[in-house]
Amino acid sequence: MIPIAEKYRTFAPFYDLMSAEIPVYRAGRKLGIQSLDLRAGGQVLDVGCGTGLNFRHLKEHIGPTGTIIGIDRSAEMLAQARRKATREGWSNIILIQADATTSPTEAIIESIASQGGRPLSDAALATYALSLMKPWEAGWSTMRDLTRLGGQLCVVDMQEPTSRLPGTSALARLACTLGGADITAHPWTAVETHCTDVTTRSARAGHLQIRTGHHSGT
Ligand SMILES: C[S@@+](CC[C@H](N)C(=O)[O-])C[C@H]1O[C@@H](n2cnc3c(N)ncnc32)[C@H](O)[C@@H]1O
Repeated sequence: MIPIAEKYRTFAPFYDLMSAEIPVYRAGRKLGIQSLDLRAGGQVLDVGCGTGLNFRHLKEHIGPTGTIIGIDRSAEMLAQARRKATREGWSNIILIQADATTSPTEAIIESIASQGGRPLSDAALATYALSLMKPWEAGWSTMRDLTRLGGQLCVVDMQEPTSRLPGTSALARLACTLGGADITAHPWTAVETHCTDVTTRSARAGHLQIRTGHHSGT
């Protein structure tokens, strides 16, 4: 079996085409981003940002003066994100190559500051990313530690569909296996446990779970 990091290195140029974005996964990222109270000029952190599929939707809210901090451990996925930002003419995109489960927060903050970003973001999201991290709780801690108190935290991730439509469970499991995600991880439970004012959404027969809340410091 190909290790997950190797998969993302090899398939980065094809990720956007192969990820079932339009029929399945765009719905979750859009619901997640809509649930954030993003303002023009705000700074938002995208943990496990991959090729930057969230960036267009985030930019619609934070505008040209807002900043996106994208963190990913894969240089190849970040290269695709950088290409996309250049092609679209998006400014204020700071991309940092780091393992969200092991990199010290101080080192990431230093890297953000050296590229003109603020140390703590107004909001953070992780779409289809925490369920790949081992342990995902470490990725969650990084996301929380890089967000200001009172800011918002949003996790969009996958589980077995709750609908009994024939084939949906098998397809969901296949997508998670191919992408290296643990369909049983349920990382949005961190938002339920650690945040206040939690909102719950789901899409695609329950396969996509979205939780957003305010960082309460716990
Ligand atoms: C399924 S992709 C999702 C990408 C993007 N968030 C999206 O919604 O399309 C998962 C991403 O998480 C990244 N990733 C996995 N483990 C990571 C870790 N420990 N630290 C940082 N990034 C990680 C992978 O490199 C990959 O780009």
